[in-house]
Amino acid sequence: MSLNRREAIKRGALGVAGIAAGARALRGASGPFVHPSHDPAVAGAVGQVTNAGIDPHEFLEAFDYGTVSTSPAGKTVRSFEVHAVDREIEVAPGVFFPAWTYNGQVPGPTLRATEGDIVRVDFRNLGTHPHTIHFHGIHAARMDGVFEVVGPGESYVYEFEAKPFGLQLYHCHSVPLKKHIAKGLYGAFIIDPRSRRRTAREMVMVLNGFDTNFDTENEVYAANTVAFAYQQKPITVLQGQLQRIYMVNVLEFDLINSMHLHGNFFHVYRSGSALQPQDYTDTLMMCQGERHIIEFTYDEPGMFMFHAHQSEFTELGWMGMFNVVAAVA
Ligand code: CU
Ligand code: CU
Repeated sequence: MSLNRREAIKRGALGVAGIAAGARALRGASGPFVHPSHDPAVAGAVGQVTNAGIDPHEFLEAFDYGTVSTSPAGKTVRSFEVHAVDREIEVAPGVFFPAWTYNGQVPGPTLRATEGDIVRVDFRNLGTHPHTIHFHGIHAARMDGVFEVVGPGESYVYEFEAKPFGLQLYHCHSVPLKKHIAKGLYGAFIIDPRSRRRTAREMVMVLNGFDTNFDTENEVYAANTVAFAYQQKPITVLQGQLQRIYMVNVLEFDLINSMHLHGNFFHVYRSGSALQPQDYTDTLMMCQGERHIIEFTYDEPGMFMFHAHQSEFTELGWMGMFNVVAAVA
């Protein structure tokens, strides 16, 4: 049995409408959760998120390879421009969050290089607080984005060799760290192995959450910022085609997050740092900062859910669907 698109949207809309009320019930929130006029539960209005800073479906498959040049030593140099800027984003219909962003979007752009490339990141802080970019990976101390705090109006150039191959991430490391991450300063950073991975359809999912009433708990959860985005509009997947997801957990305030896939099992490459999978499962637990590559193939068409296996996160937005369609002969 498959769920049609109309039913999927209806389910998604119900989920979105339930966010505000659900969050209040769960958190006993007394502070302002959202503007009453913007509150979908109050207004009875459900709709589309139009001001998220990203389109979750575009973001899903967008990779920034930088501007490519060659160093005098003959190495590939990938130059990226990243700026920090304050921006209010919409994380569910009518639910706004005053974010701090890289390049105006949460998550920041998915940066991508091949092991051995020289990565150069021109960072400008156009925001109102001191920030940095801390990259996971192997590099010099002064490229670690911790002690060289970049004040508003200032800039810094990070340059290092891309290593080791795997799924890394980047995030601000200014203090208080919890706040700088929770505000939205993070993104995925993929270092491809020189010996390429096998051909697959590739996606990025950054698992995040939003503390919309500043009580140090999240009211909204998501894969790629917008609650229920992939439930309202399922991700189309080709039957028989290998799917690869670069999955990064940056969720603040909650100790763990997880990924559960319906009707299937997936291979897990922990931190993406090996070419052979280390696990085969349908439920993967992730601490903050943990990230894994997962791969799977659907053999039959139909609608399949994926979501956190923490039911609370699921009901507050971290849930989506794969619409598996028959490959056209
Ligand atoms: Cu910061
Ligand atoms: Cu980190």
